[in-house]
Amino acid sequence: MKLTIIGTGYVGLVTGTCFAEVGHQVICVDRDEDKIKLLNSGGMPIYEPGLEELVKKNVDAGRLSFSTCTKEGVEKSDVIFIAVPTPPMPDGSVDLSFIESVAREIAGAMTSYKIIVDKSTVPVKTGDKVSETIKRYCKAKVEFDVASNPEFLREGFAVDDLMHPDRVVIGVKTQRPVQALKEIYAPFEAPIIVTDINSAELIKHAANSFLALKISYINAVSVICEATGANVQEVANGMGMDGRIGRRFLDASLGFGGSCFPKDLSAFIKISEQLGYDFALLKEVQRINHDQMNRFVKKILDTLWVLKDKKIGVLGLAFKQNTDDIRMSPAIDLCLHLQKEGAKLRVHDPKAMEKAKAVLHNVTYVDDMDEVAEGCDALVIATEWPEFKKLDLERVRKSLTHPILFDGRNLFDAKEMESLGFIYKSIGRP
Ligand SMILES: NC(=O)c1ccc[n+]([C@@H]2O[C@H](COP(=O)([O-])OP(=O)(O)OC[C@H]3O[C@@H](n4cnc5c(N)ncnc54)[C@H](O)[C@@H]3O)[C@@H](O)[C@H]2O)c1
Repeated sequence: MKLTIIGTGYVGLVTGTCFAEVGHQVICVDRDEDKIKLLNSGGMPIYEPGLEELVKKNVDAGRLSFSTCTKEGVEKSDVIFIAVPTPPMPDGSVDLSFIESVAREIAGAMTSYKIIVDKSTVPVKTGDKVSETIKRYCKAKVEFDVASNPEFLREGFAVDDLMHPDRVVIGVKTQRPVQALKEIYAPFEAPIIVTDINSAELIKHAANSFLALKISYINAVSVICEATGANVQEVANGMGMDGRIGRRFLDASLGFGGSCFPKDLSAFIKISEQLGYDFALLKEVQRINHDQMNRFVKKILDTLWVLKDKKIGVLGLAFKQNTDDIRMSPAIDLCLHLQKEGAKLRVHDPKAMEKAKAVLHNVTYVDDMDEVAEGCDALVIATEWPEFKKLDLERVRKSLTHPILFDGRNLFDAKEMESLGFIYKSIGRP
């Protein structure tokens, strides 16, 4: 099918590329001219495992192209996906101005029947507003359908998640667009849930809030583990083997971040409030997450005492492994806390250093992870990159002025670290 994706970011670029990979003809549109220029010249604006090769393959095959022109995308395609940002406002509600402006642009360019699919994460009832806007601004007065198709990909695993989704959710008002949407997703061989638009929009907010809740739950359990000498990893394993619970998202850490969980949580709390329900449970999820970071910083302060002029090495800047995304990254947040206490930082991330340079200043960026600890009073692990497990620990121990390691991601075995001569502090483990 002929498809256009408006918004060529983490979601739009991966979605467009995977749609092309299964044989659809795809145009990815973005208003960022530099991004489109970069893509058209064979460059990549983001890091996502496997994506670069897939983009190249599909561009070469003539199935994937990039443009800055929404009009071109609308004219040349039957189905238009919206994948623009839905950032948080200061009060926690969602800034829907990107969605509104794209809806107007699409409306202005429509001269025949189109299906407009919202893939951005939006509060319940946004679909109605998109329909109203398109109807109002479509001069050609042609027919159209609006659908909701929330995206569940995880950054760092986005290509795999897109190619092998657990399920595809399609929210519609009438049956008319269903066949086309099913056809688009047929090659992915995933269960397809067809529901109403409000339910589809709610599925996304409810799912992300639940995952955040799961993380905060195990983080709260980690506090009890620390108070009793229990081991949160063993508790999580024991809980997770219960099929009703599942092991994923039960890793205690310094907290969750990223461009989705924090904003989707506050958006869900806000829309619930507007609908007359105080979602206090989710407010507690936020509070636990906030406290978890403070507790980790306190752990560092309790050990190192005064941080002024102390040198600390930090491994990890991305909000999670396998990505260069630093939006609302707990690792960056931690660095800012440590800087506020007067610490001098040496930092490293396998993929996120370029992006971090825009927000994290007055630190030393170190290319080799094994050199970060050089001359430092302690080393901190802030992101769960698997390569950090391969650190040259002997060299790290010798490089540190004192062999102190704070592990905000529980990457290492505590006993092993002690036997290697480290003072090792992690989360929720003796
Ligand atoms: N990143 C994720 O892991 C993830 C997962 C699921 C859902 N989502 C949701 O998907 C949406 C997009 O997220 P993202 O992370 O891809 O954002 P992003 O910031 O990486 O990409 C959005 C892109 O949209 C472009 N854009 C903005 N206005 C435009 C316009 N009028 N016309 C054309 N392009 C425009 C921007 O230039 C940017 O390149 C959000 O609602 C987000 O919550 C994100």
